[in-house]
Amino acid sequence: VTEGCTAANKTLKVGIESNFRPFTYSEGGENKGFEVELWKAISKEANLKYELVPMQQSELNKAVQSGKVDLAVAGMTVNKARKDNFVFSDPYFQTGLVILTNSDNGQIKSKDDLAGKVVATKIGSTAYTYASGLTGIKEVRGYPDISEAYDKLKNKSVDAVIFDERNVHDFQQNGGEGKVKIVGETLNKESYAVVAKKRSKYIGRINQAIGKVVKDGTYETLYAKWFGG
Ligand code: ARG
Repeated sequence: VTEGCTAANKTLKVGIESNFRPFTYSEGGENKGFEVELWKAISKEANLKYELVPMQQSELNKAVQSGKVDLAVAGMTVNKARKDNFVFSDPYFQTGLVILTNSDNGQIKSKDDLAGKVVATKIGSTAYTYASGLTGIKEVRGYPDISEAYDKLKNKSVDAVIFDERNVHDFQQNGGEGKVKIVGETLNKESYAVVAKKRSKYIGRINQAIGKVVKDGTYETLYAKWFGG
């Protein structure tokens, strides 16, 4: 990548999520997380200037489509439906969804036990779509902020939460201690990637930069920092 001229001089607006630990979140007026740091490395490699714009997922999708932001780096799962509206970079994180229930819940041991149950998750997420497709599910309650779903589980107004496994792990350690447990296996294998609107001219060099930061060990260092190696 050549320094200087071309579109590199434009300051890109990059949408991130304000509450998606440990990937992207706002804390004490700062944007933090694995993806915030990974994006810093990718953008440096790709010679892209940017500013971060924190928002909720529901706004994020619209913001990318309308061009209010140029890109989103926010734990966005690659899937077929989204490919109709967006273009994704190469994936940089392999993960999936998990079921979280109360520690003293003896009934729910896997997704098959969710028939007749109420599940909370985040509006607009892949988990919402997944939960809505479960056989016999009584109700899926969607919240704009995943913390609300976790609160509803803690006070037992729902039976379970389904959401991205790393975010669930984070909640187990920060807020859910002793009160919640993960049950069953990882559901719905997913991978995260950078999202842009169709025909974005940035994806090519972002992919090159992703390749570079993986190859030179930057990715591994950040992974170890945020996920313990
Ligand atoms: N990975 C899930 C999805 O793509 C949840 C993402 C959480 N929020 C976000 N803005 N990335 O729907």
